[in-house]
Amino acid sequence: MTIDRVRIFDTTLRDGEQSAGINLNRAEKIQIARQLAAMGVDVIEAGFPAASQGDFDAVSAIAHEARGPIIAGLARANEGDIKRAADAVKGAERGRIHTFIATSPIHMEYKLKMAPDEVVRRTSQAVAYASSLVKDVEFSAEDASRSEVQFLIEVFSAAIAAGATTINVPDTVGYATPGEFGDFLSRIMEGTENSHKAIWSVHVHNDLGLAVANSIEAVRRGARQVECTINGIGERAGNASLEEIVMALKVRKDVFSVYTGIDTTRLYDASRLVSRLTGVQVPPNKAIVGDNAFAHEAGIHQHGIMCKRETYEIMHPKDVGAPESKLVMGKHSGHHAFVKEIKAMGYALSEEEFKRAFTLFKELCDKKEMVTKSDMEALIVDEILSVCPDRKFVVKDFAVQSGRGKATATVSLTENGHDVSDAATGNGPVDASYAAIRRIIGIEPELRAYRILSSTEKSDALGEARVTLKYYDMEVQGRGSSTDVIEASIKAYINGINRLYQTAAARGVEIVRQRKAG
Ligand code: KIV
Ligand code: ZN
Repeated sequence: MTIDRVRIFDTTLRDGEQSAGINLNRAEKIQIARQLAAMGVDVIEAGFPAASQGDFDAVSAIAHEARGPIIAGLARANEGDIKRAADAVKGAERGRIHTFIATSPIHMEYKLKMAPDEVVRRTSQAVAYASSLVKDVEFSAEDASRSEVQFLIEVFSAAIAAGATTINVPDTVGYATPGEFGDFLSRIMEGTENSHKAIWSVHVHNDLGLAVANSIEAVRRGARQVECTINGIGERAGNASLEEIVMALKVRKDVFSVYTGIDTTRLYDASRLVSRLTGVQVPPNKAIVGDNAFAHEAGIHQHGIMCKRETYEIMHPKDVGAPESKLVMGKHSGHHAFVKEIKAMGYALSEEEFKRAFTLFKELCDKKEMVTKSDMEALIVDEILSVCPDRKFVVKDFAVQSGRGKATATVSLTENGHDVSDAATGNGPVDASYAAIRRIIGIEPELRAYRILSSTEKSDALGEARVTLKYYDMEVQGRGSSTDVIEASIKAYINGINRLYQTAAARGVEIVRQRKAG
């Protein structure tokens, strides 16, 4: 029996990043790409270069930085998009253009306003043009699962004839069910001319919670690439979750007879990194990477586990890199051990960043009895990776007074090196602090979301604050952490403001203060 390789195509940075409330900057995308490359994904879909200059730059930076995986750029089936994608992936060891057009009757009539013949023609033209620019071309039929089989066969045959090397069958709206999707794929693969010349791929959304089930059924039917995202993030209910697919194929190799190139011991760290950077929390009961995925609470289960692990565990936490102990370091840990631990968690920092992180770590050790892996992640992501390189504002000091009535806050910042401070009242210390900050910065961004999480369950935990700020058409996230939740909240707000300025600068627009700092 032959054991085939299934290629893992990760679209966290494209379809994942496209989902509501997620907004990653270039440095964050690069960190994720490095983690994906270290984990062994076959393809990183780094973005949609024609969507914006920021997307183009991020894809191009990843193409230059990430070594190992193929770097793909998404493009609609038109020359402009395809040329942009080709330019963006130019620096990659191996670049791919992923071009797509919709094929379902509803999309063709109402969205594209194109007759089926025109869609076939566009497919041939787009794939032929992409193939003239790069060797590796993927073609997707958007909304394939609601398209007619005969029509898809015609479109896919045209795509392969024009040079497509991968043919992707998306369930764009998460409508398919496993048996039906498997049959559908088999019929298309059988009917398509020169089907064997392409690698067959699926891309499934999770609207009915069936994305992973549909993806692995497709593998059983012969798909040899699956498109997925870390933690299943993506449009609406998300995409198929990478970690679930990879572990299902690994643990149930007896059913699928395939393997992937993923180093599964890196799944947990990748999940944590994506969760922290995107602000999308992993539910505790999430398969593979949730906090409770390996927790045995019931007495009968605990007894069974003590007698023999396999009574209630089908995989070991270390298979996915989940920590068995939460305690990692303390105040006696040296710089060398600290750097080793951070690198093992998959973070790539510069010398300077390591130095800064170590100083912050030592400060944290003075405040906290135990420093856990979660604390270290919060520190690295919030205090090192999220900090804007040319930040306009830095938090200098703050004081709050709160009781049952209105709270008062005084906040001091440095703005381009100069001290500025102001005071305000509000409904609680965070509201008052944010009002004081708005008085200083002279603009009134809309606070669209505010959340505070804790890195551990103890009362000396790091508070991790997350904000989403909107200013005209710019939406950014801000992050900050501290053992003092008010300080964490202020840091997150200021981080968001600095990101607004960074976004504005990247777009060549100026943020005009509505009032002078006072
Ligand atoms: O869901 C979808 O159809 C897509 C395509 C662009 C592959 O994301
Ligand atoms: Zn999609």
